[in-house]
Amino acid sequence: MKTPTYLLIILALWASILMSCNQKQTTDGDKQMNDLIDDLIGKMTLEEKLGQLNLPASGDITTGSVSSSNIAEKIKEGKVGGLFNIKSVEKIRAVQQIAMEQSRLKIPLIFGMDVIHGYQTLFPIPLGMSCSWDMELIEKSARLAAQEASADGICWTFSPMVDIARDPRWGRVSEGSGEDAYLGSQIARAMVKGYQGDDLSKNNTILACVKHFALYGAAEAGRDYNTTDMSRIRMYNEYLPPYKAALEAGAGSVMASFNEIDGIPATANKWLLTDLLRQKWGFNGFVVTDYTGILEMVDHGLGNLKEVSTLALKAGVDMDMVSDGLPGTLKQALDEGKITQQEIDQACRRILEAKYKLGLFEDPYRYCDVNRAKNEIFTPENRQVAREVAAQTFVLLKNDNQTLPLQHTKTIALIGPLADNRENMPGTWSVAGDFSKSVSLLDGLKNALGNETNILYAMGTNVVRNPELDARISIFGKPTKWDKRSQKEMIAEAVAAAKKSDVVVAAVGESSEMSGEASSRSDISLPENQKELLEALLATGKPLVMVLFTGRPLTISWEKANVPAILNVWFAGTEAGNAIADVLLGKVNPSGKLSATFPQNVGQIPIFYNHKNTGRPLAEGKWFTKFRSNYLDIPNEPLFPFGFGLSYSTFDYKNLKLSDSSLTAEGQIKVSVDVTNSGNYDGAEVVQLYIRDMVGSVTRPVKELKGFQKIFLKKGETRTIEFTLTEKDLLFYNSELKFVSEPGDFKVFVGTSSASTLEAGFVLK
Ligand code: BGC
Repeated sequence: MKTPTYLLIILALWASILMSCNQKQTTDGDKQMNDLIDDLIGKMTLEEKLGQLNLPASGDITTGSVSSSNIAEKIKEGKVGGLFNIKSVEKIRAVQQIAMEQSRLKIPLIFGMDVIHGYQTLFPIPLGMSCSWDMELIEKSARLAAQEASADGICWTFSPMVDIARDPRWGRVSEGSGEDAYLGSQIARAMVKGYQGDDLSKNNTILACVKHFALYGAAEAGRDYNTTDMSRIRMYNEYLPPYKAALEAGAGSVMASFNEIDGIPATANKWLLTDLLRQKWGFNGFVVTDYTGILEMVDHGLGNLKEVSTLALKAGVDMDMVSDGLPGTLKQALDEGKITQQEIDQACRRILEAKYKLGLFEDPYRYCDVNRAKNEIFTPENRQVAREVAAQTFVLLKNDNQTLPLQHTKTIALIGPLADNRENMPGTWSVAGDFSKSVSLLDGLKNALGNETNILYAMGTNVVRNPELDARISIFGKPTKWDKRSQKEMIAEAVAAAKKSDVVVAAVGESSEMSGEASSRSDISLPENQKELLEALLATGKPLVMVLFTGRPLTISWEKANVPAILNVWFAGTEAGNAIADVLLGKVNPSGKLSATFPQNVGQIPIFYNHKNTGRPLAEGKWFTKFRSNYLDIPNEPLFPFGFGLSYSTFDYKNLKLSDSSLTAEGQIKVSVDVTNSGNYDGAEVVQLYIRDMVGSVTRPVKELKGFQKIFLKKGETRTIEFTLTEKDLLFYNSELKFVSEPGDFKVFVGTSSASTLEAGFVLK
């Protein structure tokens, strides 16, 4: 049926009334901002406008392969919008002074940095943080990071990194929150709140930058910077929610990712950066490229620098990190009519707005208080928080015969390439850290045990056997400490120490830079030489505890089968050694739960708990059945499932109850379960709730996390834990990408991991 013209006119009138109401909602603050920026833009030359889009690297800290030159001159000419990875309040103040005193329009610069898991007080790497499942702690760590960074002149962080990743070969799994969109979304929110607080213009809050938009975690074959390609329905349901959550929490900037989406690099992808981000999601902050993201589109095969810069601007990029494409080529593009003045003004305006919101127009030195830098960075209080947080991120993977906690030990043999290695405690992306001040495991055990216990240390082996590989992983001030002695000699020394001890603690795994950017691995097992060390130590017959340092899930099937106790400590930041000692010695009972599945071998990758059922699922408990979806040589089960993590105590789940057997669109169902601490230690447990939508218009995952609570129970204590489910929890994107729920049967699972749950069911009416 055709809509009558008068109806169309009424609708148009109504829309314009609504729009003007929206405009009326503009606050006084917005008006002041708009007036100031209108005035400024009116005065700016084209070069000055393009200058705002320019984000060169400072050359102070290296995070890529380009160093920008002549920065001071460019700042004087108004050709720089901000700088990143420049460290120290004095330097930042001096650079800001150039902009404020020697440039024509005196527009303040914005100073960014990769403050990824803490500033100088380093917290565990993000993957580790996510295993705490503790949103308060995560928010607090981001808050403290913001406090320290802002005390040293930084007002913008390139964090949170919220890329969902299901391929542990990709080194950057270490920088994100694992494989699950629900958990990832909660963490994204907590981090943005922590960084930005409730008022961005305060001198101790900083602007967050959600990255890498989008789908960077789905790089083919786990090889960094590689192509991604996925269906929209997967994108919407499984990969996009954490970005959206971070933006809903108010994140003021977004970083475009290196990868392509539907054949168009994110940096030039209008659908992504404008249609979805701005029009659908209502984002009104600014978009920055990733490091040389524009220039790289030449190699992607999209044209020369001028052409790709034009594409980027038109797609919705506002700021150019390091490429010199927007500032360097857009004048010509404008002259040729390829872009409009309005498009340049729009991008420039967004940068100026961010500076305004940070309070930089009011006081360009707002973040340059030298006293704050002296008093608020790397304080004993912050380090204490880092220690407490770190202990919450460790995942106890195995603990046969209650090998842990260590008790009544007179002599401990502390063996391994990561045992006395301060440089390799913080993990990747710790650009502001002073590694010499981090606490190694040897330091931590000595601090905790004093002279009571004898600690016999031996390195045992190098991190890797191959010196060329060692050189590749010994960068950014994190040498692995290559020992020239032979493997035989080093192992012999370690075995001698082990024989004299009551227990052996083996600090093994990856070094810091074996994960992170450009650190993909095709083989994610423990390096062979370290395995040989473990074999020799096991042969002594002494109880062996493996303290596993890693930035990714590893394939440690042999270790799981042979080593009695495994504590996964990721990279735990400045206070790593103290926190690990706290857990090894039982001062803290471990409670971390995996946010990413550990595969049995690389052939299982990608492996994640919320997969589809397929038309030929393998029956539960079976290994192999012909013509079912499985492997000939290995079961489908992972080595350690999502949500898994042991405690020194044990937790029993009983009496899963639903308040109703059906749910309506307006109603709710209470899900309750009794959890008992049935072991001998007080401790924390993460109670996890999953659902399964049994019948849908599209296939649905076999399980989806929809709630969790971290609780603390004294030994012997039982508590009834309650969750509320509403129809909102059952929404998903259907094949038309509409966010819907569909009536029918649902299952509810509650338990201690994704693989160990009680089960009930209800119907959505
Ligand atoms: C990384 C980003 C980072 C940027 C600036 C890039 O190589 O992909 O995550 O924020 O460098 O250091």
